[in-house]
Amino acid sequence: MRTHPLALSIVILAGCSFEGGSSSPDAGSEPEVAPRATWHQDVAPILAEHCVSCHYEGGIGPFSLENYETSSSLAPVLLAAIESGEMPPWSAISSDDCEPRHSWQNDPRLSAEEIATLGLWIEDGTAEGDIATATPIPERAEYDLEGKNAQVAPPAAFTPSGTRDQLICLVIDPEIDQLSWLTGLQFNPGNLETDHHAVLSVVPAEGIATMNELAGPDGVWDCAGGVAVPGSYPLGVWVPGQAPTETPNESAIPIGADTMMVLQMHYHPTGNDHAPDLTTIDLRLESQPPKRMFFFSVVGNAFEAPNLLPGPNDVGGTEFRVPAGIQGHIERMEFALDFDDGPRLPVTAMFPHMHYVGTDMKVTIERATPPEGEPSEECLVNMPSWDFDWQQTYFYDAEYGELPTIGTGDTIKIECGYDNSLENPGVTRMLQDEGLANPIDVLLGEETTDEMCLIIMGVMVDLPAGP
Ligand code: HEC
Repeated sequence: MRTHPLALSIVILAGCSFEGGSSSPDAGSEPEVAPRATWHQDVAPILAEHCVSCHYEGGIGPFSLENYETSSSLAPVLLAAIESGEMPPWSAISSDDCEPRHSWQNDPRLSAEEIATLGLWIEDGTAEGDIATATPIPERAEYDLEGKNAQVAPPAAFTPSGTRDQLICLVIDPEIDQLSWLTGLQFNPGNLETDHHAVLSVVPAEGIATMNELAGPDGVWDCAGGVAVPGSYPLGVWVPGQAPTETPNESAIPIGADTMMVLQMHYHPTGNDHAPDLTTIDLRLESQPPKRMFFFSVVGNAFEAPNLLPGPNDVGGTEFRVPAGIQGHIERMEFALDFDDGPRLPVTAMFPHMHYVGTDMKVTIERATPPEGEPSEECLVNMPSWDFDWQQTYFYDAEYGELPTIGTGDTIKIECGYDNSLENPGVTRMLQDEGLANPIDVLLGEETTDEMCLIIMGVMVDLPAGP
């Protein structure tokens, strides 16, 4: 476990509980007033639902929120982390100028009412309440993939080391010998002390030679910028505390015969002796073609910057450059879609991606000839405060027919904000990792000191009905 400053400075606040026999009949003239919220009746179920997936004994969260003692001693800190939006980690947040049509699946954020309950609990002395009449607490979800029927893993464990973040790619032979359709996957992290996030990608035949060159004989390489293998496409992304990924709306992702896979692990080693990590991935594969194919489509600037619009800090022509020390820098780009005569495609998921200097991102669509029921312009995803550590796939919480669609003639517009000053904690961390004292100009690219601005969209396309 990374040592967390908070874990070292936990101050056990003096208990002033109304319950638990601490009040004696002649303790004064103040009448005893029942607290408006207690741990057993009100608070434990809220934390169990929103926090305990990570904050349990042995989980990735730096302390457990399953017990009264820790939770009550930290109560104001918990409330502050919730009110600031820091916890639970979640970056897809609407604003007045960018509000997606639908909410998101598995949104872990608390309702205003739940936050108010925590406030009352604190105001009234973080009372424990009566365990005899406790509100039942949901079991901590197991996050097991239902119907899993295959498992893949790298041939050997990897042991992260040092104090710098490591992005390591590991070759996996999935031993799939016929076209298969993936409808779900779940990662089983090998070591929660170091595993921070993971991406599993398929490498089709055309990319295997490049992959082998990058990976060398041991099948392991440093891949800070991404998998960078021709034709490779992601199957799913994992962050701690995440439910299994399942393809929506009777869709599935094809995995061809004799393909390979690459697992990209993002490690946060702390310089201690870490146990080796062997992360495995459960898959649910089907042999019958689904009703529709699910695939991820990447739009944005990653290694090159086509479609970039001129910006105020450009020097000598349009360029992707975040000058050293600058705050509030924006890069904008526009992509015209052309699917030939293909049908419009529903978009079901959004995975925004930047590196350490990024602060915010906004993706909108402009439809030249919007179909009935769809606006000519709408926001697809908004991230007012980008967090590199908690990148994830956001799925719209909507029926198939209600999803936003993309088609020929539409323009996808992406706007990425950057802060390349020491006030951005991401920059401080990047410079520390690279042994640099001051910010440097940040260009487009795959290295830690480069930036990207891209959106990976989960899209579906109907398949012809089978025989
Ligand atoms: C997806 C996993 C996850 C969930 C869900 C989660 N946390 Fe955390 N939390 C973490 C991790 C990991 C840290 C350690 C700091 C970091 O890496 O951001 C942390 C740190 C904290 C901290 C220390 C804040 C700081 O300044 O770093 C507080 C307080 C906290 N969590 C409270 C909560 C509360 C309250 C909830 C529920 C409302 C919650 N967390 C939900 C993973 C989670």
